[in-house]
Amino acid sequence: MKFNDHFLSKLKTAQKVVFFTGAGISAESGISTFRGKDGIWNKLKPEELASFDAFMRNPKLVWEWYQYRRKIAHDTKPNLGHEAIKQFEKLVDEVTVVTQNVDNLHNRAGSKNVLELHGNIERNYCTDCRTFFSPDEISKLENESGSESPRCSKCSGLIRPDVVWFGEFLPQDVFSEAERKASGCDICFVVGTSAIVYPAAYIPITARQSGAFIVEVNIESTEMTRIADESFFGKAGEVLPKIVEKAKEIRIN
Ligand code: OAD
Repeated sequence: MKFNDHFLSKLKTAQKVVFFTGAGISAESGISTFRGKDGIWNKLKPEELASFDAFMRNPKLVWEWYQYRRKIAHDTKPNLGHEAIKQFEKLVDEVTVVTQNVDNLHNRAGSKNVLELHGNIERNYCTDCRTFFSPDEISKLENESGSESPRCSKCSGLIRPDVVWFGEFLPQDVFSEAERKASGCDICFVVGTSAIVYPAAYIPITARQSGAFIVEVNIESTEMTRIADESFFGKAGEVLPKIVEKAKEIRIN
């Protein structure tokens, strides 16, 4: 892989780094992306599975769809891309991962500062009283609910996954913190995302407007390519480890 001098000088001196990630970073772990060749939204309609209206219309169907996705996430593990991001923590003062993914793989890879813009499929809460339930409690409530989707042990409200659905707001505190980190970083890596879903896609734009160097890692060009200072076209699990190796070499010497 070829690195130009401008990129290398940024990589050598950067202290605060943001990784803005999307479904593509988990593709090599076997989790489908949303768009593109085998994207989920080519086959299924988001408004039938990923909206509050859909959930109220058919809670069981939506619950089962998220249970299915949760099982896929459990059965896989973080890949070399997630691990490379974790490795970066040893090289610079501050690494923040701002992810659109709900699969929990950055946390499982050990990344310390993970901001989840679209929630986390591992967490669930009651739509009425907002009580959160652990995975063990959910298994118990699922057994008790028989063929229905699980209900809250306190108020019998429907339990939903803590993910952001179409038409819903992002968690404001998480988004504000992500904007703050983006506006103070030296490099923002934009990894495995089509970068077309807003407001999440404002994060790399904020970074750029604040003077950060933008580096895209994707298997193909995207909306980000126009504004990126550098694009590496390849799989995240192959490109990111090479960038980490290079960073080790030039920052230690
Ligand atoms: P997309 O499915 O829109 O985009 C995935 C991107 O990953 C594409 O640009 C692919 O080219 C790229 N890609 C695929 N495999 C890759 C690999 N091995 N290495 C690097 N890049 C790869 O997914 P997101 O951008 O994450 O929202 O989608 C954004 C949001 O749209 C999601 O968070 C979700 C969805 O609707 C909500 O659930 C709210």
